[in-house]
Amino acid sequence: EQGQAWLIRARVLSFDADPGDGDTPREGSVVYHQDGALWWADGRIQGVGDYRTLTPQLPADISVIDQRDKLVMPGFIDSHVHYVQLDIMASYGRQLLDWLNDYTFPEECRFAQRAHADNMADAFLKELMRVGTTTAQVFCSSHPNSVDAFFSAAQRRGLCMLAGKVLMDRHAPEALTDKTLGGIRDTERLISDWHGTDRLGYSVTPRFAPTSTRTQLDAAGGLLHNDESLWLQTHLSENLGELDWVAELFPESRDYLEVYEQSGLVGPRSTFAHGIHLDNGMRKRLAERSANIAFCPSSNLFLGSGLFDRHAAHESGLNLTLASDIGAGTDLSGLATLKAGYQVGQLLGQPLTAWSGFHALTRGNAVSLSLDDRIGRFAPGMDADFVVIDLSASPLMARRMARCESLAEELFTLMMLGDDRAIFETWAGGRLQHRRQN
Ligand code: GUN
Ligand code: ZN
Repeated sequence: EQGQAWLIRARVLSFDADPGDGDTPREGSVVYHQDGALWWADGRIQGVGDYRTLTPQLPADISVIDQRDKLVMPGFIDSHVHYVQLDIMASYGRQLLDWLNDYTFPEECRFAQRAHADNMADAFLKELMRVGTTTAQVFCSSHPNSVDAFFSAAQRRGLCMLAGKVLMDRHAPEALTDKTLGGIRDTERLISDWHGTDRLGYSVTPRFAPTSTRTQLDAAGGLLHNDESLWLQTHLSENLGELDWVAELFPESRDYLEVYEQSGLVGPRSTFAHGIHLDNGMRKRLAERSANIAFCPSSNLFLGSGLFDRHAAHESGLNLTLASDIGAGTDLSGLATLKAGYQVGQLLGQPLTAWSGFHALTRGNAVSLSLDDRIGRFAPGMDADFVVIDLSASPLMARRMARCESLAEELFTLMMLGDDRAIFETWAGGRLQHRRQN
């Protein structure tokens, strides 16, 4: 209700800065209150800190939620996910290009129907809330309807979401391709209806180089050039077969990244999913333009795309985000993404620390997506998006947690053993979005 103040008393964790890759977080990065409290009203955080320090400042009519045994963190952020692929998760046996043709394109054709898109947008957002993800950058299908459906559903819930209509004018079934400039006009209409409306933002969304003509890529770049507040999302260097195809289709470009550079698609609000097969020169060029690579570990493993080299990325100064990439990803949960990220890291001798992982899921992704003025950490004035985590969500977790001697150990256990059961409640825009049953 308007004006109503709320407070949750719990263990409260957020990050004010990047903790780095070391076993101990950098000074000043972790903000943790063992007996903490988060206070919010009208969808915004009013205060955060030690429960006892905060108490004297609180309004008299505040509603207090006592969850002293739980851990409160900013809502998780997923920087790359396809809501239209929820129902083709776990489709057997293909790598990228066959997987697209055999499963993905036929499924996305179904989103020509608005009623189907409405159902799926609702199902997808319910799942996101169940896993504690309060913000995502989302691929819709090539049908403008699918974007209206998604943004409408997000708006009703008061969520902060980025999304866009897939641009693809070739190399896909007739029912899925748009017209080269018709797709751009539809994008302009969607931008004017949704970009900056409530907590929503528009991501210009050319699927990837092979499914757009140069003319369409250039026109997408034109949209970004005219409005610097727009985001861009696409795919880059995920699969070796894809790389060969791009080289064939764009002989005028010296590498895959240059296809996007030539069309003006590489900037600080651009997110390129995967970026597995890059050389240091490409990493540097991305870093120089402050562009982001979305590391999608469960998807990269599922499609057999390759092992993403996080250290090489860091060394080139490249911004990384973390993403599920459903439906090629195998789990929507940010905890599962961290687990897969850790496992990929182990194979390359670069294990992901819990500090670095939970920072990436919250403030890290917010900074990379230029949303850190609104979400990703706890401070007065920030949006009230947070998860209430049950560290003893299963008998096994309870046993393992009982052995933990530090917050770092508890967080690592959470990222390896946690799943949707650990998400006790999800709040976004100051509203309760999900509460675990029993
Ligand atoms: N490359 C182009 N389209 C897609 C997609 O839908 N999923 C993944 N993982 N890669 C892509
Ligand atoms: Zn993707």
